[in-house]
Amino acid sequence: SIEKKIDLLLKKMTLKEKIGQMNQLSADDMETNFKVIQQGMAGSVLSITNPEIANKAQKIAVEQTRLGIPLIFGRDVIHGFKTIFPIPLGQASSFNPDLVEKAARVAAIEASETGIRWTFAPMIDIARDPRWGRIAESCGEDPYLTSVMGAAMINGFQGKDLSDPSSIAACAKHFAGYGAAEGGRDYNTTAITERQFRNVYLVPFEEAVKKANLATIMTAFNANDGIPSSGNEFLLKQILRKEWNFKGFVVSDWASITEMVDHGFSADNKEAAEKAINAGVDMEMVSGTYVAYIETLLKEKKITIETINEEVRNILRVKFKLGLFENPYVKGNLKEVFYKEEHLKLAEKAAEESIVLLKNEAQILPLKKPKTIAILGPLADAPHDQMGTWVFDGEKKHTVTPLAALKEQYGNEIKIVYEPVLKYSRDKDSTAFSKARQIAKDADIILLFLGEESILSGEAHSLSDLNLQGIQSELLAALVKTKTPIVTVILAGRPLTIEKEVKLSNAVLYAWHPGTMGGSAIANILFGKANPSAKLPITFPKNVGQIPMYYNHLNTGRPAEGSELNLNSIPIEASQTSLGNKSYYLDSGTDPLFAFGFGLSYTSFEYGRINLSKNVLKKEDILEISFTLKNTGKYKGTEIVQLYIRDIAASIALPVKELKGFQRIELQSNEEEKVTFKLPISDLAFYGIDMKKKVEAGKFDLWIGSSSAKGEKVSFEVQ
Ligand code: IFM
Repeated sequence: SIEKKIDLLLKKMTLKEKIGQMNQLSADDMETNFKVIQQGMAGSVLSITNPEIANKAQKIAVEQTRLGIPLIFGRDVIHGFKTIFPIPLGQASSFNPDLVEKAARVAAIEASETGIRWTFAPMIDIARDPRWGRIAESCGEDPYLTSVMGAAMINGFQGKDLSDPSSIAACAKHFAGYGAAEGGRDYNTTAITERQFRNVYLVPFEEAVKKANLATIMTAFNANDGIPSSGNEFLLKQILRKEWNFKGFVVSDWASITEMVDHGFSADNKEAAEKAINAGVDMEMVSGTYVAYIETLLKEKKITIETINEEVRNILRVKFKLGLFENPYVKGNLKEVFYKEEHLKLAEKAAEESIVLLKNEAQILPLKKPKTIAILGPLADAPHDQMGTWVFDGEKKHTVTPLAALKEQYGNEIKIVYEPVLKYSRDKDSTAFSKARQIAKDADIILLFLGEESILSGEAHSLSDLNLQGIQSELLAALVKTKTPIVTVILAGRPLTIEKEVKLSNAVLYAWHPGTMGGSAIANILFGKANPSAKLPITFPKNVGQIPMYYNHLNTGRPAEGSELNLNSIPIEASQTSLGNKSYYLDSGTDPLFAFGFGLSYTSFEYGRINLSKNVLKKEDILEISFTLKNTGKYKGTEIVQLYIRDIAASIALPVKELKGFQRIELQSNEEEKVTFKLPISDLAFYGIDMKKKVEAGKFDLWIGSSSAKGEKVSFEVQ
């Protein structure tokens, strides 16, 4: 067995060789790296993408070190390697785990051909603050959706068998709570209680470990309640290892060990290494303190050899599972796998399924073959900027922009006139406004491509203002005056505050950063070759002041009833009490701009009455919920039907709504189908007052609907 092989190996290993396994190098200086590898002082290298260099490094590890332990090569393969898929937040909008799994499979096939056998993905941080740049890399605000999507990505990356040469080990990150950074400012501190960790932030990680066979985990940059993640023994030992029985290995995030000094949690790098080792960080990414201090720390009895053995064991286990000992080298048939036709097709489908239709006044979409189209805006032809954050390997020469796709598909029959007006979204002036207005006047329809470039989201790219950058809004306002109908397509890495722009546009498509084939997907949607089905995996606030705003919040003692409060309607002389003393902002009311789960289609769906198999259930029962869904519109379409529950009263207060299931139902025009959900009552378990996970008896509400803000409500009881 693997454990016996590890026993044998560990017996042969010197302390130095063990330390080497715990050390990850970055690929910046490979000449120096080759020497370090030869000395047996590296277990992994990060970000080699050339198979020849990978094989050269591997050959040194396998043939020129005493025990020949292979290296594991890691890389941030986040939403595709060469063929780029929509950003994860976009993929989550598809509510299609099968598709998401296939996308991750393609990423693994392309990446593994270069020698990469480990990706630092998926990021399954619950992200509820659109100011946070890394929200792009998340699956949004919901623990259930993030769990389903995270597991799909892990399955896709890791394949059926980790030892298959096209499988890459997944790394769920960031453990834990990084998405809750105060104010959405990257790396900022968090204040998550143990119960919030267990009921919200850790849910996708628990699923990944227990159900998706997750190979590795990365610690986070944030300090929670004063404890940096790379030194958090409670999370890494008590929860991850003891309670969840995690058998993979834990890697620190880049320099997150030495950053414990900046946090004020360690006096120096040596103490930081001590704390990380004792907390259970098996491999150190780049910062070198393990190599520098493990021997001294052992001598000083600050750490034990048993801990080191255990941590090296965890690393070797994954290397054995990947089959690296038998199969250390890579073929490097890059041409055979990069940008394959089937990969591009899948990327197009993934983009189509991630684009959310937010508004479609008078059914202006799909377009009915206009004679002249004005294509305007800085994001219409921005091949690099539509790929999104964390794209190092996808090349813009392979990217199909909306302009290119529309010209290619319709250039012969439709007159297409293009003017970017602004070079970048953030430009603050332009000399092309009047030219754009003229083009718009002469056109039957304006397709206006606004948003933010890839560089404005991602790590360390937080924003305090989520309005459209630069003078994009002014451009829209100027075009409105031409009276030509406007379809606004927004490409962005996060929810932007676009209330005004939505009002001014006749239709709005939210395309996120849709990746390599984003342009074809947008063209297909604009002309109805594809019907939008995506739903928002995150609440869209009206303004930054509403943040944090997420559908699955706890109630206050004074909830405001869904209503919009109009400040102007309040008489000047109104007393404090006459405002109602409810929990809302006077100037923004209580409603978001768009609710979690919202998204339109070119067709319409009618939901029939809900039928429950039982109204009173036992904890071991499965509740069957059924209803008829009918496509009442003109087009074939897919509706994502959503199941929410609320546990009315429990030992702790629980969210006002929680997603517990969803299905994609495709129907022809006029077709109807009986839809059934099977909800095991055990899925209603949570960590209650005694911090034990269980279902509590009592009354529940249940909704089936097209978003978190819609749906018929029924009730049931658990005894
Ligand atoms: O994987 C990333 C992580 O998410 C942020 N810091 C760097 C790592 C490796 O590139």
